[in-house]
Amino acid sequence: MASEPDTKTASDNVAQSPTGDAYLLTPGPLTTSLTVKQAMLHDYGSRDVNFIDLNRRVCEQLLDIADAREGYACVPVQGSGTFAVEAMLATMLPPQGKLLNLVNGAYGHRISEICRYLGRQCLVHESGEELPLDPDVVEEALAAGTDITHVSVVYCETTSGILNPLAQIAEVVARHGRALLIDAMSAFGALPLSAKDISFDALAASSSKCLQGVPGMGFCLIREDALAQTAGNAHSLSLDLYQQAQTMSKVGQWRFTPPVHCLLALAQALEELDEEGGVAARGRRYNDNCQILKKGMRALGFTTLLPDELQAPIIVTFHMPAHPEFEFQQFYDRLSMKGYIIYPGKITRADTFRIGCIGDLGAEQMQCFIAAVKQTLGEMGIEKLTS
Ligand SMILES: Cc1ncc(COP(=O)(O)O)c(C=O)c1O
Repeated sequence: MASEPDTKTASDNVAQSPTGDAYLLTPGPLTTSLTVKQAMLHDYGSRDVNFIDLNRRVCEQLLDIADAREGYACVPVQGSGTFAVEAMLATMLPPQGKLLNLVNGAYGHRISEICRYLGRQCLVHESGEELPLDPDVVEEALAAGTDITHVSVVYCETTSGILNPLAQIAEVVARHGRALLIDAMSAFGALPLSAKDISFDALAASSSKCLQGVPGMGFCLIREDALAQTAGNAHSLSLDLYQQAQTMSKVGQWRFTPPVHCLLALAQALEELDEEGGVAARGRRYNDNCQILKKGMRALGFTTLLPDELQAPIIVTFHMPAHPEFEFQQFYDRLSMKGYIIYPGKITRADTFRIGCIGDLGAEQMQCFIAAVKQTLGEMGIEKLTS
């Protein structure tokens, strides 16, 4: 027998989304709008003409977000973001290829790990987790490593929340005639990324994160002439984006059971992105959320890991306060009881925690969150944190 769901009693000081859930101030899954959730209240067959049409529209809209309708294919894949990154690497890297992987956090390391599984050569260039990747280092590495065929970069490294200089790195990679693969997971839909300005062979992103759909599918935008060269590269049937693209273009269908409800939600989420004013407007809202968060937390005595000029408006890493009464689990639990879910840190060098600025959240939620943090510190017997 199914157990009773957790019931949290609504009270005046418990924040709730319109469906009675806590707000997710996390890197994903995220708080989605009521209308995105409602969009899933349908069943479509995978060969249904309505569903095929929905797929086509979603793919075109995803291409439009990156100004990539001309010369690029959108190839969706079932699963979380990692599945899309793995499918991108497996498909784009030929067995004899060699990847230069630029790393400043866990998602960069994950790319190296995927290459290890795939048996692909991978040269790692690592900067500290609090430092942006350096285009000059890429310049030197590509000049020295003439056998390097591809370069991979994480646009916003969600481990710390740092923004990497994608445009500058892309310029160096293009000048050296190599192919760029981008993990744009926590950037796509909110940070600028136009195929007109940035030369790339493929990028991977997902239905949730800044697009504000529900988790369950990823997609890659792939330069068509590069994709045409990838037949037989993939080690895996289900992650072979060449084959997925072939089937999509021939019959407009996914090869295997598609995540129908996830696509329905994504179609609605893309409409809402458009209504909001597109990528620039969404980026501005996240930026406003981020400013309220940093200002409010700093006023309470918290300190950020990154200086403002390196911070992407996606997720903010805070140092764990040294105050003797501050205990993270208690802080987390008390905030959760007030309707806000935060996130542990992922940085290896420092004791930290993270708070996200993305999802269906605005200034009001961020201000109420800061008030909840202040109240929580009071409950923990902490008048003010000093750094
Ligand atoms: C930059 C980046 N890459 C990859 C991933 C992996 O995505 P998932 O956890 O959906 O597999 C994430 C998840 O947060 C991410 O932020």
